[in-house]
Amino acid sequence: APPGSKFFSVKCTANVKYSVSPTPGETSHLSPLPLSGNSVLLISMSHASQEEAEEKISLDVDADRDGVVEKNNPNKESWKWGPNGHGAILLVNCDSEKTQDKTPDSEEVRISRVSDLKDMSLMVLRTKGPAQLPKGYKLTMHISQGDAESVRVFRKLFSAFVKDYPLVLSSEVLSQEVPYLGGSGEMNFYVEGLRFPDKDFDGLISINLSLLEPISEGIPETPIFTDKVVFRVSPWIMTPNTLQPLEVFVCSTSDNYQFLKGMKNLVTKNGCKLKVCHEYMNRGDRWMQDELEFGYIDSPHHNFPVVLDSPRDGALDDFPYDVLLGPDFGYVTRVARRRDVSSLDSFGNLEVSPPVTVNGKSYPLGRILIGVAFPTATKGRNMTKVVQDFLWAQKVQEPVALFSDWLHVGHIDEFMTFVPAPDRKGFRLLLASPDAGYKIFRGLHNDGHGQAKMFDGVKNEDPVTVDDILSDETLRAENNYVQSCIDWNRDVLKSELGLDDDDIIDLPILFKLLGEEDEYRAVAYYPDMVNMIVLGKDLGIPKPFGPKVNGRCALEAEMCSLMEGLGLNCTFIDDFASYHKLLGEVHCGSNVRRKPFDFKWWKIEL
Ligand SMILES: *[C@@H]1O[C@H](CO)[C@@H](O)[C@H](O)[C@H]1NC(C)=O
Ligand SMILES: *[C@@H]1O[C@H](CO)[C@@H](O)[C@H](O)[C@H]1NC(C)=O
Ligand SMILES: *[C@@H]1O[C@H](CO)[C@@H](O)[C@H](O)[C@H]1NC(C)=O
Repeated sequence: APPGSKFFSVKCTANVKYSVSPTPGETSHLSPLPLSGNSVLLISMSHASQEEAEEKISLDVDADRDGVVEKNNPNKESWKWGPNGHGAILLVNCDSEKTQDKTPDSEEVRISRVSDLKDMSLMVLRTKGPAQLPKGYKLTMHISQGDAESVRVFRKLFSAFVKDYPLVLSSEVLSQEVPYLGGSGEMNFYVEGLRFPDKDFDGLISINLSLLEPISEGIPETPIFTDKVVFRVSPWIMTPNTLQPLEVFVCSTSDNYQFLKGMKNLVTKNGCKLKVCHEYMNRGDRWMQDELEFGYIDSPHHNFPVVLDSPRDGALDDFPYDVLLGPDFGYVTRVARRRDVSSLDSFGNLEVSPPVTVNGKSYPLGRILIGVAFPTATKGRNMTKVVQDFLWAQKVQEPVALFSDWLHVGHIDEFMTFVPAPDRKGFRLLLASPDAGYKIFRGLHNDGHGQAKMFDGVKNEDPVTVDDILSDETLRAENNYVQSCIDWNRDVLKSELGLDDDDIIDLPILFKLLGEEDEYRAVAYYPDMVNMIVLGKDLGIPKPFGPKVNGRCALEAEMCSLMEGLGLNCTFIDDFASYHKLLGEVHCGSNVRRKPFDFKWWKIEL
């Protein structure tokens, strides 16, 4: 007893035995007994537990990540990354079970369809004890104020009707009593994730269950037993070019028949699906790459694709929500102030590398790549902070910032891409290279093809000879500058992705500068071949309309010979009038939904 205590009382459940000595005069030990120097309280149980560490109350989750809720996992109270890690997983319920009047399910405070339950994580309350709790005792479930923004808990009643999933916990109700079933009972709860990890949310959520003991009228009950479980919300995961394509998305416009025809051929040959977004929906905005990025979320019990909607908000703005959001197709966006949004917020400026290992650290889901202003620049365009914060907070594909503000449009897909390869690291990084371009043109000149023409036969385009290009000093100076910008990125990519020169292939591409005074920025001089669509072994490449030798385009020939060794097949797509002249190419005008990684994000060592 604390020093100075003068009285004590005894209170316990029926099967606890005790004795007090010296034997007090009072019969009720609930009223205060005088505490003398030689008071002894002896406590014993009527029988021993049948199992070691037998738990009478247990809140259970799938802490071992096998898709099944186990019994009282000793690790359920904490969360650990890695192949030997543990801790339950939650999905953000960002798809929509409804196809009419849809909203992401997480915005609805009730379960509207039983099919929605599979997007939630099962949590089981197991109790084993007397038929009833002693008078005044109760079970309550609770969450913290902070976690309540990110999670909801529903309870299952014993019937199959949708209305029988009452809400237990939410941002409005942080604590609620749950019924005690008596005897050996199991009660199912469904836990729903509401938001993705972000700057102010690390993705972890804990839920407590306590047995409360009454003290006396007017005094709050005290917990005499608490069980706790922890969940982590699945990050949003991007899919690199090396993953199998499932669906290709393009826009149909009044002027892109030629391009669509090329894409249809490519997709048919490849065997994936083509999805065309028609004009009533795209309203003339053809930049399918820029409005959205496909990714997915994953858990041991379920996974589904999730589209990240860019704050670019062009005329295609409604497409991700109105068309893509649906049952098992999630939607997430980040809202930025209009004046903070620039061309660098288009998702041609958001890519992801294939899996890499860098100085012994592995990134089994690759690394996100974005383009920003030059690090030492005092002004310049950047990807908006809310999107950058979101990308960094996902953690499993730690981003790398590249320098893309030197480009007029400013997207990293204008100078780089990845293609699958059967050897080395399983891929090659392709980089646009003016130096490689000039090498081809000099070679043509030396072989007597100085008068061969670029853009020959292209409507409304003046042909330019190889010698014209070689003698244009301004163009050469501009391309030296462009090469230095790409070289800077090449060094960053080599060190941040752990690449050697042999992992990189330089593609012959020239640029030119647009603008005035000290605001010059680069655009592709002829269709930018690196801005391609990658569908397994099939590459859809902007048709460069280069100088012809014996009837064959020298740039196409070079491209094919560079890719052939990797077992890749080049299809050249005419995007000249409908994309190239509008400062984009095949990649900018398309998007690919890919198969998720086999590798599970929670197995990453972080
Ligand atoms: C849950 O229980 C743990 C330990 O029992 C406690 O530290 C934490 O504050 C509790 N959280 C809530 C929301 O009650
Ligand atoms: C642009 O974003 C990068 C990457 O997050 C950051 O390091 C840099 O400070 C930002 N630059 C400006 C000018 O805001
Ligand atoms: C590329 O595709 C074409 C047309 O489908 C086919 O004829 C050719 O053999 C393929 N080449 C390679 C290297 O796979």
